[in-house]
Amino acid sequence: MRLVLLGPPGAGKGTQATVLSKEYNVIHVSTGDILREAVKNSTKAGNLAKSYMERGELVPDEIVTKIVAERISMEDAKKGFILDGFPRNRSQAEELEKNLKNLGMKLDMVLYFKTKERTSIGRLTGRRVCPKCELNYHVKNRPPKEDNVCDACATALVQRKDDKVETIKNRLKVYESQTKPLLDFYTDKRLLHEVSGDKDVNTLFADLKAIFGKKNIRPHD
Ligand code: AP5
Repeated sequence: MRLVLLGPPGAGKGTQATVLSKEYNVIHVSTGDILREAVKNSTKAGNLAKSYMERGELVPDEIVTKIVAERISMEDAKKGFILDGFPRNRSQAEELEKNLKNLGMKLDMVLYFKTKERTSIGRLTGRRVCPKCELNYHVKNRPPKEDNVCDACATALVQRKDDKVETIKNRLKVYESQTKPLLDFYTDKRLLHEVSGDKDVNTLFADLKAIFGKKNIRPHD
């Protein structure tokens, strides 16, 4: 199972990648999560990425392609992986192809989470995250049991810096101009499969499992 999840900010890529990786026991590679961790730890890559992320711009390709190339060449990636938020432009997609070829691997499917703009904006403005264990909530759709407190570790929840309305608008623009053209790139390669990112979490999860069953997409031995 080697998947790419493609879609606008707030489409639910991270949410589905998390449950799918547990269900199929394959690794979840979120470039956004890896970069946020690097920013938190003030690593060289994190210090370079910080200002791009705060503006909602793409972090330079050489930083992210290196992160992904290293991650998918690790032993635990052999069974499969779910790439969430990568690739995000043509150059990253071409670099991924080269790296996969070197590893003797091929993608099974690119899932496009087609999502209405108002869905994305509603989800992102309402998203809250736990700064400690990184669990993800939504003020209306997935509220914590106690107001603004993480269910798992009782830490106060925070809003991501790039989830402010102005930055969300820029992220959506960047998606339209740089990432959306990948739909044609992967359609040409007969890898693209469209699903609705507007559906609720459990319905979409069930749809995805049905698609994998039908296409016989499963973890590698
Ligand atoms: P990243 O963290 O990847 O952000 P993104 O792509 O904008 O994606 P999001 O996490 O905002 O949305 P999502 O689709 O994963 O939705 P989620 O499941 O979280 O990237 C952040 C930044 O890092 C970028 O702007 C860039 O600067 C940099 N970066 C990352 N990758 C890069 C790359 N390859 N190249 C260059 N730069 C890169 O859900 C959102 C909310 O909705 C949550 O609250 C969730 O609980 C809720 N929700 C989810 N699904 C549903 C549902 N079905 N129904 C109701 N609510 C839902």
